Amino acid sequence: MKLLFVCLGNICRSPAAENIMNAQIDQAGLGGQIICDSAGTSSYHVGDSPDRRMTESLKKRGYRVQGRARQFFPEDFEKFDLILAMDQDNYRNILAQDRQGKYKDKVKMICDYAEKFGDREVPDPYYGGQAGFEHVIDLLEDACGHLLTSLGKELVN
Ligand code: 4NP
Repeated sequence: MKLLFVCLGNICRSPAAENIMNAQIDQAGLGGQIICDSAGTSSYHVGDSPDRRMTESLKKRGYRVQGRARQFFPEDFEKFDLILAMDQDNYRNILAQDRQGKYKDKVKMICDYAEKFGDREVPDPYYGGQAGFEHVIDLLEDACGHLLTSLGKELVN
């Protein structure tokens, strides 16, 4: 099972989702069964490490922070089983690259899995303060936890 988390720059939200999900996968003893990656719809930050503010907030909670930014490409539709967009713009920009509408079912909004939080999108924290990064992590911990529960059921069946 291969998951791809997608945001705009691939330096704040989607690398956070990838690293949080990897930690939850390890905790659940599902290492190796679910593989995570992340990408951005833009090329703005290709090759960059995750944003320093996001890294700081993640490390404070004990997460390892790995990865370098890369752009989303149409080849990713074939390479991944599930593609998780952080916001509506990401969702639209991903599907704009699926000209024949072949992969629509693979693309979901990560917030569809959130239960504790009512947000329908993961807000872009880039131009805000540290509290925005904390909220993104709270929301992703909730959404990734329930995503993992639903994938765990699929892996058993
Ligand atoms: P991300 O955040 O999409 O969560 O990685 C952003 C990173 C960079 C920019 C915007 C959002 N930017 O405009 O450069």
